[in-house]
Amino acid sequence: MNILILGSGGREHALAWKLAQSKKAGKIFIAPGNAGTANIGTNLEIDPGNFSSVKQAVINNKIELVIVGPEAPLVDGITDFFSEDDFLKDIPIIGPNRSAARLEGSKDFAKAFLIRHNIPTAAYRSFDISSVREAAGFLRTMDSPYVIKADGLAAGKGVLIIDDINEAEREVEAILGGKFGSAGQKVVIEQFLKGIELSVFIITDGISYKLLPEAKDYKRIGEGDTGLNTGGMGAVSPVPFAGPEFMEKVKNRIIDPTLNGLREEGIVYKGFIFFGLINVNGNPFVIEYNARLGDPESEVIIPRIKSDLLELFEGVAHDDLSERIIETDERFVTTVMLVSGGYPGDYQKGISIAGLGNVKDSVVFHAGTKLSGDNAITSGGRVLAVSSWGKTKEEALEISYRNASVISFDNMYYRKDIGLDLDN
Ligand code: AMP
Ligand code: GLY
Repeated sequence: MNILILGSGGREHALAWKLAQSKKAGKIFIAPGNAGTANIGTNLEIDPGNFSSVKQAVINNKIELVIVGPEAPLVDGITDFFSEDDFLKDIPIIGPNRSAARLEGSKDFAKAFLIRHNIPTAAYRSFDISSVREAAGFLRTMDSPYVIKADGLAAGKGVLIIDDINEAEREVEAILGGKFGSAGQKVVIEQFLKGIELSVFIITDGISYKLLPEAKDYKRIGEGDTGLNTGGMGAVSPVPFAGPEFMEKVKNRIIDPTLNGLREEGIVYKGFIFFGLINVNGNPFVIEYNARLGDPESEVIIPRIKSDLLELFEGVAHDDLSERIIETDERFVTTVMLVSGGYPGDYQKGISIAGLGNVKDSVVFHAGTKLSGDNAITSGGRVLAVSSWGKTKEEALEISYRNASVISFDNMYYRKDIGLDLDN
């Protein structure tokens, strides 16, 4: 079976790496991919947002399965584009349609959905330009810090957490005034929840679901969770505090009501759901939904899936996921993200990377690289994710850090404290 994976990050490299291990996999194509995916399959210079060029690639390469990595094509309706096209409608595409992807594409929709279905989440209200004064009034009823979110996709920059009330008011006005373009036509203002976050993932065919391994992501650039937010600086799976009792609450209070809610509302959801959760005194709350896998979470959860991922995708395509099995590796997997100096602010690209050939016992997933001749050069802020297995978290981390130290590029930076806040 020829497979096309859309996207260019560590998540897509991890998907390609895993699918290449399936006996059923034929040729693997990645669009646009990176220097890492070029070692597994064929990179296609295609923008996943350009649906007609995706169609052409499906035809040219006799693709029989498409997996959508990032959220933007899903929110823009790539799945609907496939189902409405005479040629593409029979090609399975893993990822929710536009209506279902609103769980990620509109924070206002997601919050209203959560409340409608009694799923634990922070109290909130939404505002638009006509209610900007009410927004200021609502802020004054809340305690600091103030959590302010642009409704739509804002390239990971749309969530602000602000201590000062006056600054919070100014930001609400700036977002409604167009700071994030149309993503900010509405803002969500919500209660700040204090706790420790984790990422829980399922794959669903719209009828049943399979729970994938969970992960903890490290979002801030600096050690001790300080400094600016990033796409994620490392991850650990499993998450020690997410034991059977906690996960039972996640299932009963969050996953089941979400799937029942979708069904009640006539929304057929096929693909991954990423529950961004926070553990508040032992109780899970939803911070956000995403319509895709996480990155760098993929670089730890995919290596923990022992079964054939392609069979799970077939289960989604054929609506028989309940008959498939998922087996997970008991071991810990950790990943440490090597990033360009300056990220998440300005940074240089095109820097050559040395030492990849000296890596032992880890898998290095490329997140922001491209080929220059036969060599990998940097092409993004997050460059490489060094993933390792271990019987303990400490063992996995030791291997990730040992291999991080043999890789180098100018101004390379990584956090040295991934996983240190978690007790086994
Ligand atoms: P999001 O893009 O919704 O995941 O938000 C980005 C980050 O902001 C989250 O990972 C949390 O760290 C933080 N955050 C969002 N909403 C809240 C909240 N209600 N309380 C505390 N932190 C939050
Ligand atoms: N690592 C968080 C995300 O993928 O959104």
